[in-house]
Amino acid sequence: MSYVNMKEMLDKASKEGYAVGAFNIVNFLTAQAVVDAAQELKSPLILQTSTSTVKQIGIQEMAEMLIPIAKRATVPVAIHLDHCTDVEFVKKCVDAGWSSVMIDASKQPLEENIRQTKEIVDYTKGKNVTVEGELGAIVGVEDEIVVKDGEEAFASVEQSREYLSATNIDAFAPAIGTAHGLYKGEPRVDFNRFQEIKAISPCPVVIHGGTGLAPEVFKKLIVLGATKINISTAIKIAYCGGMKDYTTAHPEENNPLKLDKYVIEQVKKVAKEHMMLFGSVNRV
Ligand code: 13P
Repeated sequence: MSYVNMKEMLDKASKEGYAVGAFNIVNFLTAQAVVDAAQELKSPLILQTSTSTVKQIGIQEMAEMLIPIAKRATVPVAIHLDHCTDVEFVKKCVDAGWSSVMIDASKQPLEENIRQTKEIVDYTKGKNVTVEGELGAIVGVEDEIVVKDGEEAFASVEQSREYLSATNIDAFAPAIGTAHGLYKGEPRVDFNRFQEIKAISPCPVVIHGGTGLAPEVFKKLIVLGATKINISTAIKIAYCGGMKDYTTAHPEENNPLKLDKYVIEQVKKVAKEHMMLFGSVNRV
């Protein structure tokens, strides 16, 4: 079981009609909480690391922390680098042992996006590492990547076809109207575009901006073939909110273990809710 490549996991999800949650963790506590959630529900899991988190903790330190957690897990766990715009940084994470990486050159013109994505696909050849690429601009803030409202650019079917055939990636994240962070109004998810892109994509299609999407939106996207769904903001809110709630309720408490225990439960709860919505429960 334990530490696996994201590709096999997504191929199985695609065949069986569910999606695997990719949860952005920020430290040992959040990583262990989402792994515990996955183990209790017998769900596959993608431990996702934002590039800024890896920069803050350190590539080697992060790998040494996460890989043993994944190896010990009783369910399949992939470790995925999220939204990295720096080709050299992606390569360093591959060398350190990530089983999956995302090169995000979506802010570049198509030709340059293809060039950088290909460079990573070539670099990972023979290394059993999955590569995710992005096309279009997903609105919101994820790491150092900021796309303002009105500046989003949906991925076109034609450009998707060109990008996919030129790069040969393992997982594709086209901008279809979902957004990173909290939605200000009704999300404008373009289901038709998703369906058209899914139809021409030889690899699994990924949904970014999962926090705040309605259960029926997740359901529809999964029916249409989404197999990886990213959840970051909801994990951060559970983590920070859990700390605030606990310290407000217990202002005199100085035992960090009690605080951690409470926060772990909050993060686990959010991860479990999403695993249930995605249909990944009892799949291992
Ligand atoms: P949210 O923060 O909206 O959950 O988006 C997560 C994401 O897509 C990370 O790449």
